[in-house]
Amino acid sequence: EKGGYDYFMLKEIAEQPKAVADTLLGRIDAAGSLCLDELRISAAELREVDKVVIVACGTAFHAGLIAKYAIEHWTRIPCEVELASEFRYRDPILDSRSLVVAISQSGETMDTLMALRHAREQGSRVLAICNTNGSTIPRESDAVLYTHAGPEVAVASTKAFLTQLVACYLVALYLGQVRGTKWGDEIGAVIRDLSKISHEVERVLETMEPVRELARSLAGKNTVLFLGRHVGYPVALEGALKLKELAYMHAEGFAAGELKHGPIALIEEDLPVVVVVPSPRGRSVLHDKIVSNIQEIRARGARTIVIAEEGDETVVPYADHLIRIPATPTLLQPLVATVPLQVFACELATARGNEVDQPRNLAKSVTVE
Ligand code: F6R
Repeated sequence: EKGGYDYFMLKEIAEQPKAVADTLLGRIDAAGSLCLDELRISAAELREVDKVVIVACGTAFHAGLIAKYAIEHWTRIPCEVELASEFRYRDPILDSRSLVVAISQSGETMDTLMALRHAREQGSRVLAICNTNGSTIPRESDAVLYTHAGPEVAVASTKAFLTQLVACYLVALYLGQVRGTKWGDEIGAVIRDLSKISHEVERVLETMEPVRELARSLAGKNTVLFLGRHVGYPVALEGALKLKELAYMHAEGFAAGELKHGPIALIEEDLPVVVVVPSPRGRSVLHDKIVSNIQEIRARGARTIVIAEEGDETVVPYADHLIRIPATPTLLQPLVATVPLQVFACELATARGNEVDQPRNLAKSVTVE
């Protein structure tokens, strides 16, 4: 059942290229346009949407954070992302023109379910992004876009996360397509990039041995920090969450620009700090800023673990460990940048003797509020 792997988590990490491809399957037509008729929300209704609100928990919340960048960039519709457990208790401002997107692998997470019920009571439309056919969250939603990750058994979410990202990009691009934006050309190009991305995920998986070796060498550490900017920030949060769950280590993700506002005080000799570096192409200002963040923490003794695009030579002098990922458009980078962090956490957990598939105190679906 584990297909020759020691853990379901390893199997599920390896299945990611297929999960990503399956989630795209049938949703891009021969002309390179998106066809999401399955949403059952008409183009006219989607043109009425004046706000998108994403609710989710844990790893699915991180997918939502990334979706915000994509939705706002491609559609110019304001997008909020909120932890489902906080959402309804603050009396959120919603009406019939708000599109609420509930992201959930299991489709049974009580916090997310309660948030979507609240949204529907306010007259909003709810779109579920879900991996489990016929589960409660899609049944109670107006529309559903299923992720096709297949069953995820390991408690720590991996392939479901990548497919949630794909689904979020599809929703963002589709909204852009039906509404027409100034990014029309870019949308076509991104759809083409997205349809090739599963191959890039495959390439990342082929180069993970040094990451595993690095993880083993850090098994005695107590703390690991993660830094990112833009979509790399939620990737940093996800890397930290995986490490907490699996390795039971103190792990925190920060927006790299926030370092100087406090967290830099944590930097000490030999502290491992993972930095997700955006592409030097495109929004290069982001890239330059993070390179100076790496210099700052290294000058204070941090052991820098740098995740950077192939061909990005500027980071080389400041990286104690360099993890290469394929070049992708900035907004799609989380699909490749997250994978080494999953492998890293899984290997560290193994090296520390932890139960990888069934971490202490956790359950696969959290059906209590
Ligand atoms: C992390 C993890 C959890 C879930 C969260 C939401 O690895 O598995 O943080 O992502 O409990 O679960 P779903 O997506 O089933 O609503």
